Formats: sequence, C-alpha cells, structure tokens
Amino acid sequence: MNVTVFGVGYVGLVQAAVLADVGHNVCCVDVDEAKIEGLKKGVIPIFEPGLSDLVLNNHERGRLAFTTDAKEGVDHAELQFIAVGTPPDEDGSADLKYVLAVAGRIAELMEDTKIVIDKSTVPVGTADKVRAHMLGILEERKKELDLYVVSNPEFLKEGSALDDCMRPERIIVGTDSDAVEAKMRELYEPFSRNHDKIMIMDVRSAEFTKYAANCLLATKISFMNEMSNLAERMGVDIEQVRRGIGSDSRIGYKFIYPGCGYGGSCFPKDVQALERSASEIGYEAKILRAVESVNYAQKEKLFEHIQSFYNCDIAGKTFAVWGLSFKPNTDDMREASSRVLLESLWKAGARVQAYDPEAMEEAQRIYGTRDDLTLMGTKEAALHGADGLVIVTEWKSFRVPDFEQLLKELKDRVVFDGRNLYDPERVEALGLAYYGIGRGRSIKKFL
Ligand code: UDX
Repeated sequence: MNVTVFGVGYVGLVQAAVLADVGHNVCCVDVDEAKIEGLKKGVIPIFEPGLSDLVLNNHERGRLAFTTDAKEGVDHAELQFIAVGTPPDEDGSADLKYVLAVAGRIAELMEDTKIVIDKSTVPVGTADKVRAHMLGILEERKKELDLYVVSNPEFLKEGSALDDCMRPERIIVGTDSDAVEAKMRELYEPFSRNHDKIMIMDVRSAEFTKYAANCLLATKISFMNEMSNLAERMGVDIEQVRRGIGSDSRIGYKFIYPGCGYGGSCFPKDVQALERSASEIGYEAKILRAVESVNYAQKEKLFEHIQSFYNCDIAGKTFAVWGLSFKPNTDDMREASSRVLLESLWKAGARVQAYDPEAMEEAQRIYGTRDDLTLMGTKEAALHGADGLVIVTEWKSFRVPDFEQLLKELKDRVVFDGRNLYDPERVEALGLAYYGIGRGRSIKKFL
C-alpha cells in the first residue's frame, strides 16, 4: 500500500521505517529541510537501536522516500499519517498547532479521498477538530471529497521502538467506517498475522486509550516511589518488597521499579495533559495530580540524599554523574531526572563530571560550556578526582563497576544510586557508603 507520514520525529520515522520494511511504499514529509536532506544521505536525527540500518535499507530499496514537498506526500497516498509533536502548552494541555497545520496542508492539497490517521498522542476530541478544520478548508476550496479521520495511537518505547512497532501487543484503531477499518486491517496485516492484534473502537475511546495507558504506567511508578519513601523512613528495603509484590500476577513485575523519578517525552506531558483535559470539563483528577507531584519530588531525591550525607555543605565538591538520558538506550534528555540533579548541584556550588553512553552531545547542546560541568569520555574518567558518585540512569554498563576503582578514586567513598543497581550490603562491605532509593535497611544512619 502507499502510505504518507507527516513528521519524521521519533514516532513518525520509526513507524515509516517499519511500514516500509514490511513492503509498503512510504513517503515521509517534514518541514525541516536539514533533517530531510540528512535522512536522504542516511543521517538519522535520533538515536534508536537498529533504526539507522532499517532506514538506510528501505531507502536504498526505494520503499522509503523523504521530501519537504507536502504536495508530493499528499498525492502519494490515500493513507496520510500525522505524526508531528504535541508539546505541552503553557498550562500543560497538549498544543495541537502542528497537528492542525499538517491537517490543513492536506486539506489544501488533496484532490481525492483521504484517510487521515492521527498517530500523535492527542486529547479526546482531536479527530473531530481535525475533521472540522479540514472540512472548512475543503469548503473554501469548493471541493466535495471524502475525508475520514482515524485515531491510531502509538505505544512504542524509546530504546526498544523497533521491536515494539514490529511486534506490537495491540494496534488500536479508532474509526466508525467499515471501509476504513478494512484499509487499516490491510495496512497492519503483516503485524497481526499470528494473533489478531487489531482492536477497532470508536475514535474518542481510541484517543483516550493512549492517555489511560501512559497515566496508569506513570501511576505505578509514582506509587512505588511513594512506597520507597515510606520504606526509607520505616527501615524497609523496597527492593525486597518489589519482588514480594511483583510475584502477585495481578500486580506483575513490570513498571514497579522505584527510582529517581520518571522523565521522557511522554509520561510527564501526558499526565499533565489529561489532568488539564479533566479540569476543563470541571473534574478534578486527584490521582493524576498526586502522580505528578510525587514524581516532581522524586526527582529531588538524589540531591536530598547528597545534602543529608554532607550536612548541606557541598560547595566546592565534585560529583561524578553516571547517566544523563531519561532512561537507557536513548540520547533523549527531555524531562530527565539528571537535569534536576545537575541544576540543584550547581546551585549549591558543586561541580559535575558527567558521563553517558549516548547523551553527551545532547548534554552539550543543552548546557553548552560551563565551568561546573565537564563531560567525560568514559565512566571511569568521570571518577577521577571526584568526591562522590551519583547514578541517575540504569545503563547496562553501570551495573558491574570496578568497585576497587570506586574505592580508590572517590575521595569521600560514597555512592548515591538513583536506580538501585547494587546490593547495599555488598557495597558497604567493601568500604563505600551507599544510598539507594527506598533502601531503609542501609540508610539507618540518617533516619
Ligand atoms: C512511554 C510508554 O512506555 C510508551 O508505551 C509510550 O508510547 C511512550 O511513553 P518511554 O517514554 O519511551 O515510553 O519510556 P518508558 O520506558 O515507559 O520509561 C519512562 C520513564 O519511567 C523513564 O524515566 C524510566 O526510567 C521510568 N521508569 C520506568 C521507572 O522509574 N520505573 C519503572 O519501573 C519503569
């Protein structure tokens, strides 16, 4: 099938590459000329394992094209994906200006039937807005053309995006047209061959499903983080509790890892946006508010532990920081806990020597050159001359450090671990002080 994807950001590019890989003819459109030119030469604007090869292969085979010419994209296919960003507005609600701009462009240029597919995470009612906006333009153009707007939210996770897209757990399609349903089934047939993964529902329910999923996942994390705060105060080890409750199949082991808060481009934005949508219709979403406020506080957790250890006197200290991205296998630092930590450390007069396997360029872009930040080439180099080590992201390469080197290099022999990577007893037996998240048994000293 011919498919057009507007927006070569994370979601759009991954979706386009995966659709091309199963044999569809995909045309990607973006207003960013540099990005499009780069993609034609194989320069991938984001880091995602496997994406570069997939894009290159399919581009070479002629199944994946890139253009800034919207007309070319609109003429290419009946199926028109909108996968542009929906950044938070000043008040936290999702800003639809990019989605509506693309929809408007399609309406200005279309000459035959189009099925417009909302892939971006958009609030309930957006498909109706998109349709009304497009019909208005068609009316001005005096064109009577068939137009369908479908909600087809994306559930991919950064770092495992290709796998999530190739082997989706479900494909949500919101439409009330049988003809459109048939087309969407044909499009996704290669992903739904062994088990029927496609769930057809009405458009508004499909839009809501995406928010409900992300908000529930964020709730699980904030719940565990709240439990970890209690654990710290009650002399309980949250890691033992995590295993204890995860074994209950109704709870499960996934997404109950306590840590120094969730970040990224989705959870913080989506929780806020649903909270906003709720208050617009006069409903106070108390759980969502609590999820957000627990997370906000949790991002301060590492700094609080550092302040406790040093009796609030860290001016002039140097901290090695391992991990800057909001989670492993990405270079994305949007809403990352590392940013809250770095900024708190700097405010208190400390210096940072940071290392991340992928996010160094991103850190450089965000913070530029400053005296209190040195970006180091390896995790070992980040330790040279540091007083303590702070771990913010659970990259695999941090899981088995050379503890002897930590002992030798860290002047204050202390590790603040925001992701509970180590066994406190083992680390302490080596002679290092260790502060994890919710590990009440090991932090009796400052209870
Ligand atoms: C998320 C959803 O998982 C995905 O379905 C949706 O399409 C987009 O949003 P992503 O933002 O890529 O994906 O990250 P995810 O892997 O879900 O992690 C989000 C944050 O939660 C990270 O900062 C991570 O460190 C944190 N997290 C996750 C925890 O603190 N504890 C956990 O148990 C799991």
